[in-house]
Amino acid sequence: MSEIKTTITLNTGAEMPLLGLGVYKATGENEVEQAIVNAADIGYRLIDTASVYKNEEGVGIGIRSSKVSRKDLFVTTKVWNNAQRVGDIEGAFNRSLERLKLDYVDLYLIHWPVPGCYMDTWHEMEQIYRSGRAKAIGVSNFSMLNLAELAENSQIVPAVNQIEFHPLWNRSELVEYCQTRGIAVQAYAPLARGAYLDNPVLQPIAEKYNRSTAQIGLRWSIQKGVAVIPKSTRVDRILSNSQIFDFSLSPEEMSLIDNLNEDYRSSGIPEDMQDVIL
Ligand SMILES: NC(=O)c1ccc[n+]([C@@H]2O[C@H](COP(=O)([O-])OP(=O)(O)OC[C@H]3O[C@@H](n4cnc5c(N)ncnc54)[C@H](OP(=O)(O)O)[C@@H]3O)[C@@H](O)[C@H]2O)c1
Repeated sequence: MSEIKTTITLNTGAEMPLLGLGVYKATGENEVEQAIVNAADIGYRLIDTASVYKNEEGVGIGIRSSKVSRKDLFVTTKVWNNAQRVGDIEGAFNRSLERLKLDYVDLYLIHWPVPGCYMDTWHEMEQIYRSGRAKAIGVSNFSMLNLAELAENSQIVPAVNQIEFHPLWNRSELVEYCQTRGIAVQAYAPLARGAYLDNPVLQPIAEKYNRSTAQIGLRWSIQKGVAVIPKSTRVDRILSNSQIFDFSLSPEEMSLIDNLNEDYRSSGIPEDMQDVIL
């Protein structure tokens, strides 16, 4: 089995876990708190939230309730589109920190490239990064064009581009663009929200390794150096989604999975971003 790291080195020098817990839609009573406590017990060290998920308070409680100390966790949150439109990035960031009850986050992301706004947003993010309250800054849902505009007009290269990425949408050109420019790629919806779990190409591979198709899809991703943040609030799934570091797919299996690409988008584009070409 080829060696695989459990972290990816960001262009800031920090190590970001290749596996994290996504918490979108985890808003039930005590749901996100318990998921984080369980995930931390299992070994997760990265939590991915956003102001728009409306669960940052619960994320903060989960972090404080877990047995893992803050410094050993990697916490990401994101600035939503409305804050970009009114130009209140500093305010939005402070409100996120207050809800989380943290004095810094490990990664602060622009959630979507709001046209006409994201360059100004990035300049404010650079200030936040320089203040030390975000250990790294990055982007999400950015295309190559968006990234090129950023590169031409700013000083800090995003540490991360968080994008939808999974076997049904492997975005090879964008991933290569990022990876060759020191921008780590982090996959959201890495399970395509369940869309590939009964895939007939993945099933025999899963049987061969005595794994689930979810584990095969996640393993394929980290084997490409793309970090994953599968969401679950079920402890059995939080556990199984983490068991991806003790086996490895062959080059033939990797290319079989590459060939499943059909540019399938499992997550919607926010209504106020429908006009954006990604
Ligand atoms: N930057 C962005 O624009 C953006 C957009 C979307 C998502 N995200 C982030 O990425 C994270 C992950 O994406 P996602 O939540 O959209 O999709 P996902 O992780 O691909 O799929 C989550 C869904 O799959 C289920 N699931 C989890 N593990 C499973 C397993 N082993 N077998 C079968 N079903 C399983 C979950 O249900 P249960 O909870 O019931 O297990 C949930 O319904 C989000 O939580 C969020 O943090 C970011």
